[in-house]
Amino acid sequence: MSDANQPLLRVEDLVVRFPIAGRQYIRPVDGVSFAIAPGEVLSLVGESGSGKSTIGKALVRMVEPAGGTIEVNGQDVTHIRGRRIKDYRENVQMVFQDPFGSLNPVRTVEQHLAFPLRKHRMDKTVNVNAKIDELLEKVGLTPVADTRQKFPHELSGGQRQRVAIARALAVNPKFVVADEPISMLDVSIRAGILKLMNDLRADMNLAFLYITHDLASARYIGNRIMVLYGGKVMETAPSDELLRHPSHPYTRLLLAATPGSRHQGDLPETSNTAPNLVEGRRGCPFASRCPLVTSECHEVEPALTTLGDNHSVACHHPA
Ligand SMILES: Nc1ncnc2c1ncn2[C@@H]1O[C@H](COP(=O)(O)OP(=O)(O)O)[C@@H](O)[C@H]1O
Ligand SMILES: [Mg+2]
Repeated sequence: MSDANQPLLRVEDLVVRFPIAGRQYIRPVDGVSFAIAPGEVLSLVGESGSGKSTIGKALVRMVEPAGGTIEVNGQDVTHIRGRRIKDYRENVQMVFQDPFGSLNPVRTVEQHLAFPLRKHRMDKTVNVNAKIDELLEKVGLTPVADTRQKFPHELSGGQRQRVAIARALAVNPKFVVADEPISMLDVSIRAGILKLMNDLRADMNLAFLYITHDLASARYIGNRIMVLYGGKVMETAPSDELLRHPSHPYTRLLLAATPGSRHQGDLPETSNTAPNLVEGRRGCPFASRCPLVTSECHEVEPALTTLGDNHSVACHHPA
């Protein structure tokens, strides 16, 4: 079963739809495919409202996909329920943007970490106290005896995010969805959290889907980058290749907004409207904002097409 070349996670043509007013639906995830190998980090980049968190939630099965498949270790988990979701979460965990909102204000750090161990019945096989110390060491929250007794409000934002990461690690997952884990943190402590994730990847062969709107951190931590807009993959490539040879106008606009990029000011932004996610829209989701737009772009949705070297783009006018 577990072949070394088999990806840990394989997502094919994933669709998520939500009802909106007037018997219409939006599709914040519209035919997205990707794979992640053990110990690999895929950075998912896109602006607010492009469907990033919905992809993450579909992967941990907090939202039900309307189409496509999600496979983990060759097992189809697209529509699992109940008990199987609980078992599945021993392999796949999620860390959220707001470390304060995701922790319970009346529980200590120790209680936060003991909870998943008991819930997943790991207290039958491991020493809970020793495991909590080990988790706190792993995420750099030392001295552990001191940290264990603290409440969330006694910790800094960065320390709270480390607790949230330790809690995700408690069940020994193979894969973690990290949804903008640094965007609410003070700039000075962001690098430390990214480094921690990188260390976990290296030490535990942990795979990540790292969600961000920032290409610089996406490149720092990601082996590959996937650029999302309007629920669709616009471009994907190994990180260095994507930053060196950005092909999609949207990627080039994102790069133009990245300090220090040599693509700065490359293309002018034409407008700044939110992506249209309404089901049945036509053409390219980026057309209304694209500096290179032609009539074809409004009519025909561009397919994701390989440029070579694991680099694909969905655009009628790729650079
Ligand atoms: N449970 C939901 N019900 C209805 N609409 C939702 C739900 N969750 C997200 N959306 C909508 O889906 C779109 C994409 O949201 P999200 O995945 O959070 O984007 P991102 O994380 O890229 O900012 C947004 O328009 C959002 O309002
Ligand atoms: Mg989000």
